[in-house]
Amino acid sequence: MSLDPDKTILRPELLDFHGVSMTHYFTDNWEAVQNFQARPDDILIATYPKAGESRNETVVTRLKRWDHQAPSSSGTTWVSCILDLLYFGQTSPERQTSIPIHERVPFLEIFAPSVALVGTDQAEKLPTTPRLIKTHFPVQFVPKSFWEQNCRMVYVARNAKDNMVSYFHFDRMNTVQPEAGDWKDYFQRFIKGKLVFGSWYDHVSGWWEKKQTYSNIHYMFFEDLVEDTGREIDKLCSFLGLSPSAEVKKQITGEVQFDKMKKNSMANYSTVPVMDFKISPFMRKGKVGDWKNHFTVAQNEEFDEDYRKKMKDSTLQFRSEI
Ligand code: A3P
Repeated sequence: MSLDPDKTILRPELLDFHGVSMTHYFTDNWEAVQNFQARPDDILIATYPKAGESRNETVVTRLKRWDHQAPSSSGTTWVSCILDLLYFGQTSPERQTSIPIHERVPFLEIFAPSVALVGTDQAEKLPTTPRLIKTHFPVQFVPKSFWEQNCRMVYVARNAKDNMVSYFHFDRMNTVQPEAGDWKDYFQRFIKGKLVFGSWYDHVSGWWEKKQTYSNIHYMFFEDLVEDTGREIDKLCSFLGLSPSAEVKKQITGEVQFDKMKKNSMANYSTVPVMDFKISPFMRKGKVGDWKNHFTVAQNEEFDEDYRKKMKDSTLQFRSEI
């Protein structure tokens, strides 16, 4: 199915792409994405996405205005806003209230030419330096030029249970994602890695392993950002070689508080027509532990047992108290 604004829109099917569940929106431009020419100062923001009802509705008018859709759910937008503020907040403060975050930080692999939405083109046309670019690719899909140019990369991981919940609500409200179905079914698909961009387990572990040999990955946790945003901004600054004043850091920390971002239409995705905010807002709760409101006791036991098996060989540790 293609995103043709003159046709009735159906949610896309999952396809198996080099062993990873994907939809055509993120694979159709594969060759151009793989040949993308990164620059040494590009910064790649990488996350596993968060990720529907069946609604064969026509969304022609919405799609004609559609500038971006954006699977994500683990802090992509949050960290994108932080980086944008760190680099451009002082010189162009008006960006925060005039340019949607998905234009400031293009989504590399997205491909919907019928609505003039091609991530590689957007990234190439970015007027700013450094270019901030977002991806949900598992690490093995990252175009080789990013590695060759030794680009800095910021990976944000979120604990699996909250990531699943956030992705569930995102798939419910994003009409160009596969159907979420009911929670019970979604839970099983998460465990099996049958969601767009594949298995959470492979994604977070793959990037973690890469970090052990490629020093330009800064691996962050959503839960740390919630606990102390200022501290995490400090760590980001050390990684990026930036030294903003204490006042500027305080200002940025204030700008990216959940309530502030939730109200900002340039950060909350309310301008994106394919997202149905009547089903769920994009900026939903922004909390750690919301999974407890979704998982049954039996699901939690099943999840924990499966998690231990899948992650037993990984040195990646999430907080035990979650
Ligand atoms: P919830 O669905 O749990 O609310 P992404 O940007 O990767 O799609 O991640 C979206 C998730 O990050 C959503 O989680 C959203 O509310 C949360 N989020 C975004 N900005 C945030 C902020 N400033 N503070 C806390 N959570 C934030």
